[in-house]
Amino acid sequence: MRAIRQDTHGSPEVLKEVELPRPEPGLSEILIAVRAAGVNPTDWWNRAQPMTANGLPLILGWDVSGVVEAVGIGVTLFKPGDEVFGMLPYPHGVGSHAEYVTGPARAFVHKPTGIGHVQAGALPLAALTAYQALVDTADIQPGQRVLVHAAAGGVGHLAVQIAKSRGAYVIGTASAAKHDFLRSLGVDEAIDYQAVDFTEAVKDIDVVLDPISRDTAARARSLAVLRPGGTLVSILPFPIDAAELADIAARGIRFESLLVEADRAGMQAIADLVETGALRAHIEATFPLAEAAKAHALGETGRTTGKIVLTVEGAGKA
Ligand SMILES: NC(=O)c1ccc[n+]([C@@H]2O[C@H](COP(=O)([O-])OP(=O)(O)OC[C@H]3O[C@@H](n4cnc5c(N)ncnc54)[C@H](OP(=O)(O)O)[C@@H]3O)[C@@H](O)[C@H]2O)c1
Repeated sequence: MRAIRQDTHGSPEVLKEVELPRPEPGLSEILIAVRAAGVNPTDWWNRAQPMTANGLPLILGWDVSGVVEAVGIGVTLFKPGDEVFGMLPYPHGVGSHAEYVTGPARAFVHKPTGIGHVQAGALPLAALTAYQALVDTADIQPGQRVLVHAAAGGVGHLAVQIAKSRGAYVIGTASAAKHDFLRSLGVDEAIDYQAVDFTEAVKDIDVVLDPISRDTAARARSLAVLRPGGTLVSILPFPIDAAELADIAARGIRFESLLVEADRAGMQAIADLVETGALRAHIEATFPLAEAAKAHALGETGRTTGKIVLTVEGAGKA
């Protein structure tokens, strides 16, 4: 099979197309013929330096949409020919940027029939992150005020839709050129974070989804707009010291730092939202597997809208 592998860390050019034996599904695993696989910031971070994934050589990719080719001993949920999508266990299950990948059957669900593989391959990691942050962690309720930073990004644009599907009042930050896009997703207010200080524009927020704050000073700005009893969910799981945590707790605010997990229940919830038309990935660009380096270079600009997806033969249209 063809796979995109790196033998060193570095710039996108370290990503090379190689021929490898097709893997075999182990116990409780399925072998999937990959049709499409999203690219996420963790892919280009792990490409550039040792991070969360396994050592070298490394095949990146956690998102999968494809067709079950074979099932391992013990698998009852799927049969060869089933169309599935899901996220390989983060971080060590990595390896979907290839023609075939194996993963635990219970990381996957049936792909909704109404969407193609490009759409399905865009969703898993980013949608699970948004779902686990807003629903499993913050338990958002109808009428609550939810602030989504980087609302035009891969996670953010799905988070907006998930929050709206649960009846929340949603405020999103993005540069002005992306406000029409945010409105098309259903945001109630869009803030141009480059022109407006969001801490002066919003208050009494119940839940902040924060993919951007890397230090105490940045987190303090999101904390400032939360009401007492509110929740800040950071998806940048950097260490945070005990004094800062104590200060946040003393203000009556709940702080959670989330790392996405493979999650069959979450994937089924996402599939259900897709089926009802409440959730759809915006596809910024697709690239054939062989052009993974171009996909990384585009993603690394940090300016993309929605998702970038790698395609394998048979992916169909976006
Ligand atoms: N903890 C986890 O499990 C987990 C899971 C997924 C992602 N993440 C992390 O979450 C972050 C976002 O991921 P992603 O996939 O959404 O990334 P992405 O798609 O690359 O995000 C790009 C978007 O970010 C926006 N943006 C950049 N800086 C901004 C700022 N200061 N304020 C508002 N918007 C800003 C850009 O909009 P403009 O052009 O308008 O600035 C762009 O649309 C990454 O750091 C990623 O590593 C963590």
